[in-house]
Amino acid sequence: MAKEKKVYICNNCGYQSSSYLGKCPECSSWGSFEEVVQTSLPSKSSSKTSALKTSPIPINKVEYRETLRIDTFDNEFNRVLGGGLVEGSVVLLGGEPGIGKSTLLLQTALGLRDSLVLYVSGEESPEQIKLRQIRMNKSSEKCLLLSETKVENIIETAQNIRPSLLIIDSIQTLTSLEVESFAGSITQIRACADKLISYAKTNHVPIILVGHITKEGSLAGPKILEHMVDTVLQFEGDKNYGYRIVRSIKNRFGSTDEIGIYEMTSFGLLPIENPSKVLLTQREENLSGISISATTEGRRTLLIETQALVSPSYYSSPQRVSNGFDIRRLNMLLAVLEKKAGVKVSNKDVFLNIAGGLKVNDPAIDISVVASIISSHQDTYIDKKSCFAAEIGLSGEVRPVPYIDRRIKEAENLGFNKIYISKYNKDIVSSTKIKPIYLANISDLIEHILN
Ligand code: TYD
Ligand code: MG
Repeated sequence: MAKEKKVYICNNCGYQSSSYLGKCPECSSWGSFEEVVQTSLPSKSSSKTSALKTSPIPINKVEYRETLRIDTFDNEFNRVLGGGLVEGSVVLLGGEPGIGKSTLLLQTALGLRDSLVLYVSGEESPEQIKLRQIRMNKSSEKCLLLSETKVENIIETAQNIRPSLLIIDSIQTLTSLEVESFAGSITQIRACADKLISYAKTNHVPIILVGHITKEGSLAGPKILEHMVDTVLQFEGDKNYGYRIVRSIKNRFGSTDEIGIYEMTSFGLLPIENPSKVLLTQREENLSGISISATTEGRRTLLIETQALVSPSYYSSPQRVSNGFDIRRLNMLLAVLEKKAGVKVSNKDVFLNIAGGLKVNDPAIDISVVASIISSHQDTYIDKKSCFAAEIGLSGEVRPVPYIDRRIKEAENLGFNKIYISKYNKDIVSSTKIKPIYLANISDLIEHILN
């Protein structure tokens, strides 16, 4: 007889406790514990597992199978996967609802013209998926749709039809017959992922799992899911804008420095090979409050427009609004500007916007943020052929940033003629067509842009 035991599991990180806890001691999330009845199987099965014991193998005797990669016929997706989909690998694609996960995967399934793809959806009916396909105006004889949520049935179907790629949309909708818990709970997710991973590894079939994102921005439920899969990709972007970034945050078969950039159009996601060109708005005249920064995202360099508006505040505590840039960092830069360069912004509302709806984490954008604030504050414009790349320190110093040559090259390619960088980057700048302007601190920057 199977023995039953009640345990409480944190739906966020998988922490297990014998009693209900309000706050998880592991990941500090509140109200995340779920009661789970665990059935310990009779000892018969445990003796079975011990019979499957493996013995150690000398490393020199391990047979190496070259990792075979499947071309997805989408350069951006191939790039972020590290050169294509690896056979037998399990990829988790996370992102907020409505960002475009299902679109990207259906597009990939239709793009793999000569390979059989099984697209399993627990969220949408085949008719809904068909509608998406009509929108994309792409078709494939080899893309099979399956509306199913029982993981055992999915694996059985896959074993019968032997697809070259299995897509599961989404892991949160699946349930396993062996687990008594609701779909999306940590025990179900763990059990279903476990079964799918072992199917992928034994049959050398790659699987892409869609995973939802919680309101805090992490992959819903299970952090453990991220540990179980080979690759974790995150789909980012502002839903109100067209641009989307697929970022690799874990990759057992490639670098995590890669990003893929797309634009959501009325006929699906369009890969963007040269992002700087589309991200820079084509403006005829010089406007105040605008500056361009040479940032890096993973291995790619993007020239991005920063827009600031500084205006007198009618409130006792002025407004600070930032889109695409960390608000705390904006507050810090404003404090540095006021204290180290005497630019009085404490009684001003400051609005900051990174064009295109992108989120930028590269500290090299700091100087561009400061430059656009000064430009708006003084109502002067920054020449549209100038760009910036440096971090700003707490004492107002202009700090060097890595990959300076790469940033300069991209700026040159896009026709810029001046780049403002830290004086400490001087030694590593090779000969350039563009004119580098070396700065030591914020006051140097102000002097340059106000003259
Ligand atoms: P979807 O892939 O369903 O998002 P997710 O699976 O991440 O929840 O895409 C959602 C949005 O994309 C939806 O609001 C409609 C839009 N969209 C387009 O703009 N163009 C298209 O060609 C398609 C298929 C979707
Ligand atoms: Mg979807």
